[in-house]
Amino acid sequence: MFSNFEPGATSLGNLLVPIVTKLPKNTSLSALRYDLNAGVPDSGSLPAEQLAASAVEVLRNDPAGALTYGGQQGYEPLRAWIAKSEGMKAGLSLGSDTVSITSGSAHGLENIALTFVAEGDPVIVGAPTYPGAIRTFRARGAKLISVRQDDNGIDPGELATVLKALTAGGTPAKLIYIVPNYDNPTGVTLPLARREELVDLASKHHALIVEDDAYAGLDIDGPAPASLFEVAEGRGVIRLGTFSKTIASGLRVAWVIAEPHITAALVHMRFDNGASPFLHRVVLSYLETDHYQKHVRHLQAIYRERRDAMASALTEYAEPYVRFRLPAGGFFFWLELNEPLTAAAVFSAAIKNEVAVTPGAMYFADQGGDRSLRLVFSALPPEDIRNAIYQLAQAMIEVSNQVR
Ligand SMILES: Cc1ncc(COP(=O)(O)O)c(C=O)c1O
Repeated sequence: MFSNFEPGATSLGNLLVPIVTKLPKNTSLSALRYDLNAGVPDSGSLPAEQLAASAVEVLRNDPAGALTYGGQQGYEPLRAWIAKSEGMKAGLSLGSDTVSITSGSAHGLENIALTFVAEGDPVIVGAPTYPGAIRTFRARGAKLISVRQDDNGIDPGELATVLKALTAGGTPAKLIYIVPNYDNPTGVTLPLARREELVDLASKHHALIVEDDAYAGLDIDGPAPASLFEVAEGRGVIRLGTFSKTIASGLRVAWVIAEPHITAALVHMRFDNGASPFLHRVVLSYLETDHYQKHVRHLQAIYRERRDAMASALTEYAEPYVRFRLPAGGFFFWLELNEPLTAAAVFSAAIKNEVAVTPGAMYFADQGGDRSLRLVFSALPPEDIRNAIYQLAQAMIEVSNQVR
């Protein structure tokens, strides 16, 4: 019946205008021998057995609760667990009304954009920043304003100038989006002093901070500084957390925590009939075992070994070609390529050597990243990381010889 159907033959182009055509294309690199592109956890450590036991327990003990609609805000006992854990970290007493559970923090970001951003609203992001945030805010029609990131994260001087200009121009910034710990893509952790400056600036200019702490808990060199949420004593900061990195990204269980009236506004703007009541119960049952804490410590140990393997291989094989900082946690290294190397040339040469990396330009809302690459250290065992970096360095040598 559909033999004449040709995808793209309809006037989809018109239907998709204006937003989709403005978005960057999704990248997908084929399964090369060494994948340093996909920001995924160690697949061998996924706690499948424990989750299976929790799933059985939930279905036996609470089938009706697990298998029917559960409401927009998410399973209250899981929200209470998250509020208690976040409250203990931040030194605040938080109720379950501060939390809403989302289908991944990607969904949380979308919910925030839907609630707070209208066409043309200024939203501040880092240069570089997480591309999912660029897509989400842009899809809402936000006017993205990039602020430089240096070795210590977002530059507070430049941020102050930008905020001042926006306020003076009568279009104050709505949101400031920040990944404060083990940033994706830079790997940088914002020092406490900058967190304090950032909170002061945001409150002075009445901008909401969106603190995306996707890599929370994946500390390699000791605990991260106080969160922006803690520094601000819970006011004016919308904090995103996720179980994607510390349990499993396939669960799609994450949360947004904020002042109760902000959380209520976010929940009001949801039209998804809530995320999965079944998985909320499974996650809570798993969190209540003592496995979770042990599992996070296990991940920290694995990632420390992998981070160190990548750092030493980069020093050994690629030192003349790159500069990098040591990330104190998370998944990522950010490489600055020395001249004459460009990210585009190294990216292509690396593919021929079976190594997938991510070109830096992906992470900029405006121009930038032509001499940067993001590398993932979480996914591969140390031996593969060493081989991958060796192959990547060979690609850099080839490119460097071609342009001389
Ligand atoms: C900074 C950042 N925020 C959000 C996400 C999305 O995470 P989730 O799986 O919870 O949707 C990611 C995933 O890579 C991320 O790096």
